[in-house]
Amino acid sequence: MSYPYTRPRRMRRDDFSRRLMRETVLTANDLIYPVFVHELDGRAPVGSMPGIERLSIDELLRVAERASELRVPALALFPVTAPEAKSLTAEAAWQDDGLCQRAVRALKQRFPDLGVITDVALDPYTTHGQDGLIDDSGYVMNDETVEALVKQALSHAAAGADVVAPSDMMDGRIGQIRAELESQGHIHTRILAYSAKYASSFYGPFRDAVGSAGALGKGNKYTYQMDPANSDEAMREIALDLDEGADMIMVKPGMPYLDIVRRAKDEFGAPTFVYQVSGEYAMLRAAIGNGWLDERGCVMEALTSIKRAGADGVLTYFALDAAQWMREAG
Ligand code: PBG
Repeated sequence: MSYPYTRPRRMRRDDFSRRLMRETVLTANDLIYPVFVHELDGRAPVGSMPGIERLSIDELLRVAERASELRVPALALFPVTAPEAKSLTAEAAWQDDGLCQRAVRALKQRFPDLGVITDVALDPYTTHGQDGLIDDSGYVMNDETVEALVKQALSHAAAGADVVAPSDMMDGRIGQIRAELESQGHIHTRILAYSAKYASSFYGPFRDAVGSAGALGKGNKYTYQMDPANSDEAMREIALDLDEGADMIMVKPGMPYLDIVRRAKDEFGAPTFVYQVSGEYAMLRAAIGNGWLDERGCVMEALTSIKRAGADGVLTYFALDAAQWMREAG
């Protein structure tokens, strides 16, 4: 039975039937807001990310209040380390009174119901901008790095982080972190594993924001982040992380990797998150700023597409804007 009996346009004719058959509905519950925190007072704009600022802890609390009001479930914290605090061994990463640890405490004290996610990786703390500790040849050493990551994750959990999110792509780190969290009594701390994290050129603006771009220079992360050409490898990484004790997995970046998101959700059925990264934000913002794209239309379409591909939630720099628009739309 085809045309004229079947006319798919009948269902698209009116708003009521379009609404009735809509499969994917984005809500504020699907959003995680990444925030940059610095040691300075006030706010400082991030040049390559219009609308995004580095925040003092006081300003962070204001943003957290707004996120709570908008019912955004969680923030993801990214500290900007002062250059003099960086070192080859990255010990600033696990100090009890470090910037990240203080930010977590301040947030959990004022907004206990707002989820706080911390990034576990050494790149904000190393003088060379790599996510781990390097040997004399510059190679990022796996097992030595994992030891440092365990200390970092424990210090975040001790400060009260609800979720620790290893974004470093070292082998075996989820298992080691999980074991140590359990043995220290942090049995409720969730692990969001950046399992399928690609060596992407879309992280550029983020590296400007946290100030690791200069340190990294012409360096790259090809020996630990994944080749954008690979899909099977992502499934292997996800399987390992779930097996080692991850509660949630992540695919990163977002829009260029929606095939990976769909595969991950279909193959594992685990809570699956996607990071719409800084470069994706910058691209959209630049086009919006030039008047080439409609802001609400293209942002909501991008986020809805990520959810349709299988994501349970999206880390996005548009989280507060999108939550605000959804509220206005009712
Ligand atoms: C660091 C980290 C990066 C991002 C999140 N955590 C950068 C990188 O791996 O170089 C990128 C996020 C973004 O681009 O928005 N481990």
